[in-house]
Amino acid sequence: MTPESHAPTDTDASRPGPPPGCPAHGLGPGGLHRLHESEDLGALYEQLRKDHGPVAPVLLHDDVPIWVVLGHAENLHMVRSPSQFCRDSRIWTPLKDGLVKPDHPLMPHIAWQPIASHAEGDEHKRLRGAVMGAISTIDFRSLRRYINRSTQAIVNRFCEQGEADLVGQFAEHLPMAVMCEILGMADEYNDRLVEAARDALKGTETAIASHSYVMDALSRLTARRRAQPEEDFASYLITHPARLTDDEVREHLRLVLFAAYEATTNLLSNVLLTVLIDPRFRAQLNGGQMTVPEAVEQSLWNEPPFSTVFAYFAKQETELGGQRIRRGDGLLFAPAPANVDPRVRPDLSASMQGNRSHLAFGGGPHECPGQDVGRSIADVGVDALLMRLPDVELDCDEEELRWTASIASRHLVEMPVQFSPKPPQDVTEPPSHKQVPAQRSDWQIGSPQPQAAPAAAQAAPSVAQPASPAAAQPYPAPAQPQSAPVYPQVQPTAQEPVRGKGAWQRFLSWWRGY
Ligand code: HEM
Repeated sequence: MTPESHAPTDTDASRPGPPPGCPAHGLGPGGLHRLHESEDLGALYEQLRKDHGPVAPVLLHDDVPIWVVLGHAENLHMVRSPSQFCRDSRIWTPLKDGLVKPDHPLMPHIAWQPIASHAEGDEHKRLRGAVMGAISTIDFRSLRRYINRSTQAIVNRFCEQGEADLVGQFAEHLPMAVMCEILGMADEYNDRLVEAARDALKGTETAIASHSYVMDALSRLTARRRAQPEEDFASYLITHPARLTDDEVREHLRLVLFAAYEATTNLLSNVLLTVLIDPRFRAQLNGGQMTVPEAVEQSLWNEPPFSTVFAYFAKQETELGGQRIRRGDGLLFAPAPANVDPRVRPDLSASMQGNRSHLAFGGGPHECPGQDVGRSIADVGVDALLMRLPDVELDCDEEELRWTASIASRHLVEMPVQFSPKPPQDVTEPPSHKQVPAQRSDWQIGSPQPQAAPAAAQAAPSVAQPASPAAAQPYPAPAQPQSAPVYPQVQPTAQEPVRGKGAWQRFLSWWRGY
C-alpha cells in the first residue's frame, strides 16, 4: 500500500479512449475490462465474478494487464502465502518488460520503496518489527481520551451553527489530529496540514508541493527525536533495536501518517453514514439495536476504506481461483469484492454482527498493524460526536450523496447534516471520569420521538448534569449569561431514566479511558 491512492487510480480524462456510452468504453485488448474507465466498480466486479470466477484478468491504465482477486478465500490464500506471492514490484513482468512507463499514473504505488509494505522476509521483519514495537507502546486508555477531547474541539468549531458537512469539517480532521499526537507532533496539527495531506492524496496540481509540506514536518520530527527521544511513536521507531536510518524513519512515518489518515477518514465518514441511515441504529424507532463498534465492523464489511491494495506478485507459476498465474504476474488484493463474495455473504442485507473476518485490514504477514488505532478513532469519535449532537440527522436524501471512486478507494464527497445548535465546550480542562459519560448502546439519531419527558428533566438545569448520557453534556456547560442564545436541550426519553452514573458505568468509564 502506498499513500498516494486517489489520483493515480482515478479515471484519467486526459488519456485518450472511447467516450462513456460507447460500447467499446471500458474494454481494451482481448476484450478485457479497463478498471480505471469503469463508472461503477462494484457492478464491474460482480460482472467479472460471473464471467471469470474468483480471479479475473483486467487492465490498468495504458492497458497494463493484472489479475483482480475477487474471492474472499482466494484473497486470504494470497496474502497468507508468502512463499508464492510477495509485495515486491521489481519482479512484475510488465514493469520488467517496459510496458509500465515511468509516467504511469500508478507509479507512486508501483515504484518499490524500502518500507515494510514492500519488504519481504527478514527485511520485512526488521522494518515491521520497529513499527509494531512503536505501536505496542500506545496506551489505548490515553488514546481514547485524546480522541474524545479532539472530537470536542473539532465539534466546537461548528456546533453553534446547527449544520455541518461531517466529511469536510469532521472526518477529514479527527484522524489527522490523533495521528499527529501519536507520532509526536501534536503542535503541527492545523488546517494547513489537513489541507496538504488531502491535496497530496487527491493528486491535484499542487500535490507535489503539498506532499513536501507534510514531509518537511516529518523530517523536522525525525531530527528533533533523533537529538532527543521522547515518549512517542517517532522516538520508539528511532530507538528500536532494528536501528532504522533517518530515511527509513521518515518513510515509515510517512507510510503510517498517510495510510492511517486516508483509511481512517474513509472509515469515520462511512460509520457516520451508517449510524445516520441504518435502521438498525435507530433503536427506538425499530426495536432493533446496533452499537457504534458494531456499526464500525458493519461498515468495514460493506465499504472497506481501501477497496483494493496494489499489489501482490507471483513468485512462481501457480494456480489461484481456477486461473493459471504465471511467475511475475501482478494481482490486486481486493477487500471490496472479497467482502461481498456470495460464498461468505449469500445475503448482503444480513447483519455481520460479531463476525470480524472481513478483509478491510488485509491479512497474513502484511496485515495492518494499526487496526486498533483506526477502530478506536472511529468508535470514540463517532460516539463522542453523537453525544454532543444527539439529534444530528442527514440534511439531504441518501440518493443525493456524492461519492468519488478510484480503484484504490471510494469515499463520500460531503455529508451535510443538521442538528439543534449547541454551545461550545471547554476542552482545556483535563478530562475526568465524572465528566465524560460512558459509551451508549442505544443511540437514537434524528428527530426524537415526541415523548413525555420526566418532570425533573423538563426543568432544564442551567448547568447540565450528567443525568442520562443522551441528555448530558460531556463537560459542564459554561455558565450562560441571561442574554446568551438558548440552545435546545434534548430531553431524556422514556427508555433513559434520569439517574446518576452507577458503579458499573463508572467502571466502564475508567476501563475505556473516556
Ligand atoms: C481504518 C483504518 C485502517 C485501514 C482500513 C487499514 C488498512 C490497511 C491495509 C488493507 C493494509 C495492507 C495489508 C496488506 O498488504 O495485505 C495496511 C497496511 C498497513 N497499515 Fe493500515 N489501515 C488502517 C489504519 C492504520 C493505522 C492507524 C496505522 C498506524 C498507526 C496503519 C499502519 C499500517 C502499516 C504500517 C501497514 C503496512 C504493514 C506491512 O506491510 O507489514 N494503518 N493497512
